[in-house]
Amino acid sequence: MEQIEKVIDENKQGKPLVIEQKKSNTKKLFIESYGCQMNMNDSEIVASILANEGFNTTQKLEDADLVLVNTCSIREKAEITVRKRLQKYNAVKKNNPKMKVGVLGCMAERLKEKFLEEEKIVDLVVGPDAYRDLPNLVEEVEAGRDAVNVILSKDETYADVSPVRLNSNGVSAFVSITRGCDNMCTFCVVPFTRGRERSRDPKSIIEEIRSMQEKNFKEITLLGQNVDSYLWYGGGLKKDFKKASEMAQATAVGFAQLMDMCATEFPKMRFRFSTSNPQDMTLDVIHVMAKHKNICKYIHLPIQSGSNRMLKAMNRLHTREEYLELVENIYKIVPEMNLSQDMIAGFCGETEEDHLDTLDLMRKVKYSFGFMFAYSERPGTLAAKKMEDDIPLAIKKRRLQEIIDLQQEHSLYRAKEHVGQIQEVLIEGTSKKSDQHWKGRNTQNTVVVFPKENYKMGDFVNVKIEECTTATLIGNAVGYSDNN
Ligand code: SAH
Ligand code: F3S
Repeated sequence: MEQIEKVIDENKQGKPLVIEQKKSNTKKLFIESYGCQMNMNDSEIVASILANEGFNTTQKLEDADLVLVNTCSIREKAEITVRKRLQKYNAVKKNNPKMKVGVLGCMAERLKEKFLEEEKIVDLVVGPDAYRDLPNLVEEVEAGRDAVNVILSKDETYADVSPVRLNSNGVSAFVSITRGCDNMCTFCVVPFTRGRERSRDPKSIIEEIRSMQEKNFKEITLLGQNVDSYLWYGGGLKKDFKKASEMAQATAVGFAQLMDMCATEFPKMRFRFSTSNPQDMTLDVIHVMAKHKNICKYIHLPIQSGSNRMLKAMNRLHTREEYLELVENIYKIVPEMNLSQDMIAGFCGETEEDHLDTLDLMRKVKYSFGFMFAYSERPGTLAAKKMEDDIPLAIKKRRLQEIIDLQQEHSLYRAKEHVGQIQEVLIEGTSKKSDQHWKGRNTQNTVVVFPKENYKMGDFVNVKIEECTTATLIGNAVGYSDNN
């Protein structure tokens, strides 16, 4: 009652009535995300921005005043999935005509105003750098007008926005450290949808992690399209670093330093990071990983193809030999390191020989996991403009299957290496297959399940690994680890 009186009071002095909504969160936001972890984290930032505008999140689409879908453009299939979802919203809107629908993320950036024409259900289109403008845009939409903001930014990192953790297990969380990508791989739409690369102030990163620690989170994954390229020199685009003052250049913080700072400041917190681009990864990062027990011994190190000809066509700025040398050095410095890959089958002009090079490289590295895709041409990319998508779908699919089959063999090979060992596992939830078992991950990111006994969510437990499948280790707890 008091709050409302205060608002009316302020209102007499000419302040907008919207303050009343700010104080009592009455509106319902349904937000869902497709695509990468960065999108999941962005949705948490959006939920935080809209919480200040009177929106509480709801899990029930039918109840929503505002529905937001955070979209992915990486492959055509991802876009088709989102379009199907929009049809579902359409059906729900029939019973709830006041419901407004907004599209966020990469498809919003790629399609811009066209979205409003193509999908009548859409009222709002907001690109990844424009979320701060959501309060204004939502106001427009509530007044019955369509609203679009897809301006990309030079310095937006949402450093000061404290994300509302959505669907959180309360144990592990994402913290974004860079936005955008400057790499211009010829097949990839990300540089167009997420703009140029910029890094976030390390102080704000440390503060966010501190607040997560206070809330009892135990594991942080530092996120970026290309984390090894992290470079803080006072703000601004990575590509403008050379123009920065001598002082700014001398005091710049790179990824290895950032990791070292985080791991030192929070010795009880586990750290992971994703994604690493081989061309930007330096051995300092591996040395920092070796130095800190709390940095997980796992790197997602996509290569896309094992053929030099394809790497060149893809504008991946390293050769197969340089990649294998990096891998050898990684295994030398941290022998227990596990690696995972992304591969694209059937990129423009890929021959059978190129494909065999990919399989051969996989045999040399023996990745523990893989994320494998058939090439999907994306409008606006250099490959779409200059190269022919000439590999028939049947061949793409056959090659992809061969890559997947080989990865399965390697995943089992790597899983077996863990059997017999005692490994520290962070409990993240109940096993999908049995409510009598916990699930968590070891430092190498492999899922471990074991009987619950008296352990709880968020405990670090030493588990003796007894057996395995390709994707899961099965064991028994032998006690708490010294990290609790
Ligand atoms: N920043 C990350 C990757 C981002 S996209 C990196 O450095 O690798 C995630 C993965 O999607 C890519 O690694 C690639 O394997 C895949 N991908 C990207 N564009 C694709 C396309 N046009 N067709 C098929 N797969 C694609
Ligand atoms: Fe895409 Fe290459 Fe960047 S895959 S996200 S352009 S590193």
